[in-house]
Amino acid sequence: MEKTENNYIFTKISNKLIEIMKKLLSVAIICSAVLMSCSNNETTKNTKSDEKSVKVEDSTVLKKGKSIAMGSAKTLGSKLKKAIKKGGPIAGISVCSSQATKLTDSLSQVYNVKIKRVSLKNRNENNLANKTEKNILESWQTKIDNGTPIKPKVLRTDNNEITFVAPIKVKHQCIVCHGTDDFVSPEVRLKLKEHYPNDKARNYNEGDLRGAWVITFPKDYFKK
Ligand code: HEC
Repeated sequence: MEKTENNYIFTKISNKLIEIMKKLLSVAIICSAVLMSCSNNETTKNTKSDEKSVKVEDSTVLKKGKSIAMGSAKTLGSKLKKAIKKGGPIAGISVCSSQATKLTDSLSQVYNVKIKRVSLKNRNENNLANKTEKNILESWQTKIDNGTPIKPKVLRTDNNEITFVAPIKVKHQCIVCHGTDDFVSPEVRLKLKEHYPNDKARNYNEGDLRGAWVITFPKDYFKK
């Protein structure tokens, strides 16, 4: 009799214990689930913000770069056209020599980027292509010589700066100042010599590769 009563108490206690254990276990499971989901959230957040600062698609950069380069070319071109209409290529040279850099600088401020025009055969000595730009221009020239089409490029540096580089080709209206002696009048040649004694930007033909637009976006440009 006593034995069965003892047994009964024992099973009751152990049942209670099992219940408590079960409860503890479920609390532990819930806790760890919550913790895991928290830490998961954090990692997704982190990769997202990293993506924003580092992983901008090339297509986004190309689109933005093209629109800025085209806008800048249009602004420069219309200034030049106006000056030439008024006073011929001579007036155009004066405008270019005094305004071209100022204009690209102020456009840089408007677009909140850094805009340059560079060349392997530069007129203004500040526009000489650096080593990276030189490599790109040379590879484009090789492609042109082989009849392969060339396309704008996106460069990425270690410090998260993104640069857009696009070819500038010689159009018909450029050869009065950048062409051969057949197209550049003696007066224009004289004026060019005056302003640019080391001018290398001559003897181009229509369609030639003249240089490149180089547009550098600041670090946080695409982070919005
Ligand atoms: C009226 C003369 C004139 C015409 C037309 C002209 N340019 Fe120029 N170009 C200049 C002068 C002057 C400079 C130097 C500007 C400076 O000192 O910043 C220059 C500079 C440049 C540069 C910067 C690189 C360098 O050599 O210094 C590029 C690129 C360029 N021209 C392309 C063109 C293209 C493309 C066209 C036609 C769409 C064109 N130019 C038409 C006079 C002209």
